[in-house]
Amino acid sequence: MTDRPDPSGLGFDTLAVHGGTGPDPTTGAVNTPVYLSSTFEQDAVGAHRGFEYARSGNPSRASLEANLAVLEGAPFGLAFASGLAAEDAILRLLRPGDHLVLPTDAYGGTYRLATRVHGPAGLAVDAADLADLAALEAAIRPDTRMIWIETPTNPLLGIIDIAAVSGIAHRAGALVVVDNTFATPWLQQPLRLGADLVVHSTTKYLGGHSDVVGGFAATGDPELADRLGFLQNAAGAVPGPLDCYLVQRGLKTLSVRMERHCANALAVVDALVAHPAVARVLHPALHGHPGHAVAARQMRAGGGMVSFTLAGGEAAALEVCARTRLFTLAESLGAVESLIEHPARMTHASVAGSTNEVPADLVRLSVGLETAADLVADLRQALDLLV
Ligand SMILES: Cc1ncc(COP(=O)(O)O)c(C=O)c1O
Repeated sequence: MTDRPDPSGLGFDTLAVHGGTGPDPTTGAVNTPVYLSSTFEQDAVGAHRGFEYARSGNPSRASLEANLAVLEGAPFGLAFASGLAAEDAILRLLRPGDHLVLPTDAYGGTYRLATRVHGPAGLAVDAADLADLAALEAAIRPDTRMIWIETPTNPLLGIIDIAAVSGIAHRAGALVVVDNTFATPWLQQPLRLGADLVVHSTTKYLGGHSDVVGGFAATGDPELADRLGFLQNAAGAVPGPLDCYLVQRGLKTLSVRMERHCANALAVVDALVAHPAVARVLHPALHGHPGHAVAARQMRAGGGMVSFTLAGGEAAALEVCARTRLFTLAESLGAVESLIEHPARMTHASVAGSTNEVPADLVRLSVGLETAADLVADLRQALDLLV
């Protein structure tokens, strides 16, 4: 078995392929195999070869955890059964009576988990516009223990200044968690900007092929890693070995996929901005976007997600969703194929009537890897019928 490469000094693309992992030590297989074993032989009572029982750890999961942690610049990484399972473990770090601040624009499932699962268990939750640092300061209370950031936000693609929020939160004695699902570590590395924890739905860009559901948490703090490791094993929301294999396979092509996602998104943004049926285009690469300057500082590019509102309101938004052919009408995001959805009735239906309700005239696109001209033509034919 050759030594694993020292990540210091290696480029992101090299680490995506080799970081934290290497050929399988028992067979030399260049990909870590899918270890379909729920338990592992012990040489004597209490003497094992690194693995005992597959919920506590297995080689396929260990390989993914080491690989993805390196990409986030983290010494510790833990894989979970879904993004929400990873979020749930992080929220369990808090105690009854603690106060959590969330963004007013965030994945609906995150808001639901915090308010309807952890809320009844004693967690106090408030939403604030975290792009506005004065609003964050106003939301912080003496019992605030965690600030939850999503940037870019889902679905309005707002930008939150991770370094500035981390500074304010740490002065108040609160942890900072960044949901890095939309950006991926290729676009931004929150721990390097001061965050304490990073969380992912690996279901999205990291897996990248719409064939797996998974989650991940990373941190540079050994005590937080220890507590999360305990929760991962004690609550047991772990991914299966095949799921780990699929996410890790996605990591190897993350850089090239992200480059194309970002380039295709820019082509789509240009076409939407020029179309008379479109009222407003939301994307951090646009100079008129209120978070453009912060995005230019903390992100490598604007990302593959694009949202827009329709001059014709909700009815027009629903019509566009029904008329695209290459953009498939479906929830989720971040995979090779382009998707279109109506957040108010689909991904964010659970936040209707709350502080985090999303506009009814909004359409969200996950721009995939198809030929850009084909994607633009598909959107144009759907929009042309509205004018
Ligand atoms: C930004 C964000 N975070 C977390 C999640 C939850 O992840 P999962 O569906 O893997 O549980 C999602 C799902 O859409 C998401 O978009």
